[in-house]
Amino acid sequence: MQIRFADARPQGDHALVVPVAGKDRSGLAVLDAAQQTVSTALDRQRFEGEASSVSEQFIDDNGSTRRLLVVGVGAGASGGETSEKLGGTAAARLQTSGEKTAVIDLSGLGYDADAAARVGLGAALRSWRYDRYRTKLKDNQKPTLDEIVVVGGDAGAAQRYDQRWAPVVEGVSLTRELVTEPANIIYPETFVERVRAAVDGTGLEIEVLDRTAMEKLGMGALLGVAQGSVREARLMILRWKGAGDGGQPTAFVGKGVTFDTGGISIKQAAGMEAMKWDMGGAGAVVGAMKALALRKAKANIVGICGLVENMPGGNAQRPGDVVTTMSGQTVEVINTDAEGRLVLGDAITYVQRNYKPATIIDLATLTGAILISLGHEWAGLFSNNDELAAKLQVAGDQSGDKLWRMPLAESFDRLIDSPIADMKNVGPREGGSITAAQFIQRFVENGVKWAHIDMAGKAWSDKAASTYDKGATGYGVRLLDQYVADVLER
Ligand code: BES
Ligand code: MN
Ligand code: ZN
Repeated sequence: MQIRFADARPQGDHALVVPVAGKDRSGLAVLDAAQQTVSTALDRQRFEGEASSVSEQFIDDNGSTRRLLVVGVGAGASGGETSEKLGGTAAARLQTSGEKTAVIDLSGLGYDADAAARVGLGAALRSWRYDRYRTKLKDNQKPTLDEIVVVGGDAGAAQRYDQRWAPVVEGVSLTRELVTEPANIIYPETFVERVRAAVDGTGLEIEVLDRTAMEKLGMGALLGVAQGSVREARLMILRWKGAGDGGQPTAFVGKGVTFDTGGISIKQAAGMEAMKWDMGGAGAVVGAMKALALRKAKANIVGICGLVENMPGGNAQRPGDVVTTMSGQTVEVINTDAEGRLVLGDAITYVQRNYKPATIIDLATLTGAILISLGHEWAGLFSNNDELAAKLQVAGDQSGDKLWRMPLAESFDRLIDSPIADMKNVGPREGGSITAAQFIQRFVENGVKWAHIDMAGKAWSDKAASTYDKGATGYGVRLLDQYVADVLER
């Protein structure tokens, strides 16, 4: 999708989008002669200008028939989220409409540069789709819209979009692509290849460890998960040095289970296909790194992805196996389906040993229990540091990637003690997301600020929203990008 900004509406064929704020119809002034008929039509359609409501009409525009979309933005509402909703609503509605160009005329709203830029952002994000495997789309199902022109925002909107938001669109799109691809296409090796190609030329440095390298480091937990699969594990490290030398970096760590069958503790068949997106945390890390590099963020970040496939097989690990992690701590693997924490434990040790980060933020589709707690609206946030947690929650609210803080406590930690090893990889059913977080915390070294984001309810959506269609959401990219902008670039 091409997003452009202009001072005046272009000539030629296009659909016109006009926002209306609640019952205040002043935005329709841009329609000149057609204003009265359109307003009458809105009355007859009982259109009240609520956010994301749409009235579609055809008007006579100086002798030619033009499609008009009146889009509600709600009364009195303004700001980034409202803007994104407007752009997203228009894009969704026009994507396969037959129109090639949409012009969103903001003249009636008095949007500042960022608000106008975020109309473009919403439109671009909502337009993302992945048709690679659809060979039989009928002509009238194919997308036609390829350009959105935002008119009437403050000067500076184009620059704001190019510098701040276009990189985010690139990052989110990459994440969605990785999450959408099935597990026969994206497995640890091809995940790395796909990312290499996608970040080529951005200035990101990539380092990849294969099985032999990880064996030498003693990453027995991550490799234990991988050993049931013919697909070899990888640890991928992305580095962005936007703040020059010196200073401890911030680390993002992502769970990259390219498919989670559960292993020998195998999952039930119904719905198992969803486990292709069990790499959503790693996907978010990659997307965020790309966005940060493209916008040349003034921060030093290292992004780590633990990439494995969790399969049952002749060489798979068994319940009861004891593995030795890179940290030296041992783990009794009670349930091979609690694999994400095993991968993250070793990845976190690796990043601490090699990069001495001041702060670690890990993202993972870690537990079904977080869906029971928070549904699909919030991801769970666990942290050993109140200030870090608060800053992440602010970034979550600003970006729309919302976080709800969950507790950590010694009493939960005790629940994962093992009679034979230092810890076991599952606790009781109750508080399953918390004991999972406690497990990860055992790998965080003294003095390191750490936050864990359980995004199992967020990587994928069964219903469309204003900035994404049903499917991969790209959750986490905007959260990390916003955190870097708010906290590290200041
Ligand atoms: N990848 C799953 C968590 C998950 C479940 C993500 C549903 C998205 C939707 C994770 O590896 C897992 O299997 N967790 C187990 C842990 C249990 C064995 C302690 C779970 O949540 O059931
Ligand atoms: Mn699992
Ligand atoms: Zn998993």
